[in-house]
Amino acid sequence: MQQKVPQKLTQKLLLVEDDPALQFTILTALEAQGYEVDAASTTGEAIERLGNYAYPIVVSDIYIDERTGLDVLDAAKRKDPLCSVIIMTGRGTVETVQAATRGGAFEYLAKPFELDILFDAIARAEAARTDTEAEAEEEQLPESVMIGSSSAMVEVYKKVVRVAPTDATVVIEGETGTGKELVARMIHRLSLRAKQAFVPVDCAAIAPSLLESELFGAMRGAFTGADRDRVGVFEAANRGTVFLDEIGEIDKSFQANLLRFLQEREIRPLGASRSKEVDVRVICATNRDLQRMVDDDKFREDLWYRLNTVRIVMPPLRERRDDIPLLARFYVNKYNGAYNREVKLMDSGVQALQDYTWPGNVRQLQHVIERLTILADRIDRDSVFDALTAMESRDKPVETLADVQEDKIREVLAATGGNKSKAAQILGIERKTLYRKLERMKL
Ligand SMILES: Nc1ncnc2c1ncn2[C@@H]1O[C@H](COP(=O)(O)OP(=O)(O)OP(=O)(O)O)[C@@H](O)[C@H]1O
Ligand SMILES: [Mg+2]
Repeated sequence: MQQKVPQKLTQKLLLVEDDPALQFTILTALEAQGYEVDAASTTGEAIERLGNYAYPIVVSDIYIDERTGLDVLDAAKRKDPLCSVIIMTGRGTVETVQAATRGGAFEYLAKPFELDILFDAIARAEAARTDTEAEAEEEQLPESVMIGSSSAMVEVYKKVVRVAPTDATVVIEGETGTGKELVARMIHRLSLRAKQAFVPVDCAAIAPSLLESELFGAMRGAFTGADRDRVGVFEAANRGTVFLDEIGEIDKSFQANLLRFLQEREIRPLGASRSKEVDVRVICATNRDLQRMVDDDKFREDLWYRLNTVRIVMPPLRERRDDIPLLARFYVNKYNGAYNREVKLMDSGVQALQDYTWPGNVRQLQHVIERLTILADRIDRDSVFDALTAMESRDKPVETLADVQEDKIREVLAATGGNKSKAAQILGIERKTLYRKLERMKL
């Protein structure tokens, strides 16, 4: 679903940081806060960007290359004397602070700092600007934005940044809803293949007998029902990235095929006499413990070694509870915007969300907040408990349904624009149950 997230600033913010991991961390955190950010890795790039656009706020490292953040400060001030420049440095001295202050820097932050301190500085810079600026425009965040500034997530970001520009095969492990697909998309987006296709394949959803033709293609007549040549995913995604989701579900004979492909980078469509070379990057994901499957002889060890070159393990949400308030705020904003609501997130609500164990991880949190934004007046301790209880009992649809008022169903349907799958999800009941109910309601 495409949704709009309200932006705080009318204009973009410029981030100048040469350390790619740190740049990524700050960029991601700022985007998660709703800012639109341009990033530069060199002073030259920063000064060029400043020539083209009057950024109201610039966040810059000080030691970058042969020139420094002070040159960036100078360029920003020349473009727009009202520009607020926030300088960050890991090697602060009296002299640099003094030079930054003389140059008109708005704030000077010593690294390492908590992201909240940066957010606070930016908020103050915004407040300092006159309110002549137009109302904040609504703009869309890139879909792959990742939220979380816990150390566990920063470790993930670092790996993502390091591995993205290589063609290495990556395996992403983690419980359901921890963001495996999001990470795969992020790797693609930051890779040299970003402009090419990203093709997800859910290996669990494709019958084992069809997986081979799906991935490698098939010539007309290769099997009954093959009435035309079919291009396989690996060929269709040539020069791009293929995301093999639920890799733990493929059977052993296909594991052998996949291993051969990863070694030779050649495909031979079913029924074809020759193989062709393809250039694809493979990223896999699974919520199974592959090592254990290897031990149990359910997953080929040689394939596991092949995939295991780079391994990213997504932390479950309950192991990074500090990120819950951040995520909650993000989703409350998002769904308030999407459903035209003004539901407030109370401290007691944040606390209740933080106390829960989240077996369904971020996806579950997202659904709970979506549901609350539509059904609750405010997100506090009680409404969080109600929502969690309703979700936990979703396997007993008839009982849940008995409690659900018909006008609530109407309300949710209206809010989702008549989308019944979405409505069923929010109400915590199965879709067919909703259909039955709607029939009875003569809707
Ligand atoms: N760190 C995060 N920040 C923001 N949204 C997130 C984050 N992690 C996950 N999400 C959101 O949670 C949902 C589930 O994420 P995703 O599909 O990537 O999970 P998954 O690990 O692939 O789950 P599954 O194993 O069930 O397929 C998505 O809507 C995604 O946008
Ligand atoms: Mg997934």
